[in-house]
Amino acid sequence: MPLDRTASSPSSPSPRPFGVGPAPDSPYHDDPRVFLARLRQEVRSHTAVNHPLLTRVAHVPFTREDFKVLGLQHYALVGMFTTYLERLLIIAPDSDAKQWLAKVLVDEYGEGSDGKDHTTLYREYLMHAGATVEDLQSTPLHADVTGFVREHLRICTKEPFLVGLGAVGPGHEWSIPHMFPLLVKGLSRAGFTDAEIDYFRLHMLQDEDHGAWLEEALAMYATGRDAQEKIRRGALLSLEARKKFWTGVQRKIVRWRQPANLHVRSQSSRRRYSESGEITLAEFRRELVGAKMLPSAH
Ligand SMILES: [Fe+2]
Ligand SMILES: [Fe+2]
Repeated sequence: MPLDRTASSPSSPSPRPFGVGPAPDSPYHDDPRVFLARLRQEVRSHTAVNHPLLTRVAHVPFTREDFKVLGLQHYALVGMFTTYLERLLIIAPDSDAKQWLAKVLVDEYGEGSDGKDHTTLYREYLMHAGATVEDLQSTPLHADVTGFVREHLRICTKEPFLVGLGAVGPGHEWSIPHMFPLLVKGLSRAGFTDAEIDYFRLHMLQDEDHGAWLEEALAMYATGRDAQEKIRRGALLSLEARKKFWTGVQRKIVRWRQPANLHVRSQSSRRRYSESGEITLAEFRRELVGAKMLPSAH
């Protein structure tokens, strides 16, 4: 049965976020809803959400090939989001929190997208961008792409539950509706049809719901300084990893466009980066199966 997307169960309805305004001195507040509204502002203005790559994609012509390069890196993240939620579901302290997480998970599995899970939707988009099935598994991933996934697996398994909730709620579901419109603008300019970029268009709408649902879970726990610090820490850890991710993707696009130029850049770069340590998605998944972070195929 389809989810009632407007339903406020299992607890009270989501409030409207506060409007954009001057940042308060302290992000913490006795009222959980005030704290969460402040955190929304902090997410909105974070460098990860306003990364130069996203601005460039929105305002400078990118080709389908550029988007293929971008997408093959991004694909490694897309397939892992449900794993973070599943891990949190296991350690969620009560059934209220589990219900909100499960509600999001059901959508991620395909409830709100004709039964197609979000990884399948992304694969379809990548095929339209010119990628092959082989490309999906054999493309070397920037270290900050695999680093993003490693950091989130760590957060969702080793950190307290509220840090994890901060990473998947504010860190993901609140930030995506601000990042994806910039990508969609560039994708449309590159000639992709609405149907071809369904993954991105769907998330601009669906993640508003997901963010509101997870905010209900957050509001139950954000009742003191300690809890609020954990939630905020998770959000900021996630966004820090996201910032590095976009920079890594940008580097991959530059590498593809101007391989000779990159050599010059690498020499002058303060932080030397070597591609020799990069692994493919197939190798990464094998590693995660070995570490029992992902189930084996059978
Ligand atoms: Fe999704
Ligand atoms: Fe989502």
